[in-house]
Amino acid sequence: MSFRPAPAHIGVLTSGGDAPGMNAAIRAVVRTARFNNLEVSGIYGGYEGLIKNEVRKLNVRDVSNIIQRGGTMLRSARSAAFRTTEGRTVAKATMDRHGMDALIVIGGDGSFAGAAIFQAEHGIPVIGIPGTIDNDLPGTDATIGFDTATNTAMEAVDRIRDTASSHDRLFFVEVMGRTCGAIALHCGIAAGAEYIMVPERPQGIDELITALENTERSKSSVIVIVAEGDEEGGAYEVARKVKARYDHYDTRVSVLGHVQRGGNPSVADRVLASLTGVAAVERLLSGGSAEMVGQANGKLVFIPFRSLLDQSQALDGELLRILGILSI
Ligand code: F6P
Repeated sequence: MSFRPAPAHIGVLTSGGDAPGMNAAIRAVVRTARFNNLEVSGIYGGYEGLIKNEVRKLNVRDVSNIIQRGGTMLRSARSAAFRTTEGRTVAKATMDRHGMDALIVIGGDGSFAGAAIFQAEHGIPVIGIPGTIDNDLPGTDATIGFDTATNTAMEAVDRIRDTASSHDRLFFVEVMGRTCGAIALHCGIAAGAEYIMVPERPQGIDELITALENTERSKSSVIVIVAEGDEEGGAYEVARKVKARYDHYDTRVSVLGHVQRGGNPSVADRVLASLTGVAAVERLLSGGSAEMVGQANGKLVFIPFRSLLDQSQALDGELLRILGILSI
């Protein structure tokens, strides 16, 4: 850690796709800052809001009654302007105008890539809090929003199972996750799916059809969970390819989409958001910067942005293995 004066005024923003639990993290940041007699400002609309000067001071009561709400009270965006040197220079000018001397970014890998460049160019201490439903950040066991999104997906698949088994149907259910199969894997185990298709372990249609032939004989319904980033091109495409080869399947497709991003955060997400929100402020106070705070094996961890951006989160091999056993 470098030696520099402790920050006196922290800016906080949410960036990228919103995730349930972001509000709980904002609340934790604001209250921990005020607890330590720091000023804290909310930046509205992510990095775009920093460029457009959408900034407002926050106090402890401004974050009352939000811990249970999905979405983000600070709104979010993906900013093209912040990817440019000019955009980041304007963003720094906004920080100076308000006297903000440190930043907390709640978001995913794209948001942290931007934060890392901003920190390197302008020397602003930045700490990241992992807020994304995708659970695609290495070093932390979970990201804020993943637990809620996976529960939402699981409940949807439970409902689909009711109708699938009433009609002896084969369902392809597409879940989110961008290039990461974590939602598909966890939801697949929790909802008892027969098969999952994930980008980290490309299986191809042949392997899927062999698996379907084996399970079809003994089951009244079959559910295949397809991660949106799977190399076959999503649930509609997988269904089309299967149907082209085996016309006798009565197939249906359900794309769960943005319903997975909404809703009240789960206990796990609220607790993770509270822990990492407090830790982010305390880390800035003790001189930390250019790191993401996460939790691994029950302990807080601080992962440098540079090592985050070099790797991707590996899918849990043991969970993949047990899914294969349990879906026979
Ligand atoms: O990163 C979160 C996420 O929901 C991904 O799972 C998904 O691919 C993407 O965002 C969707 O982005 P948008 O809301 O911009 O359509």
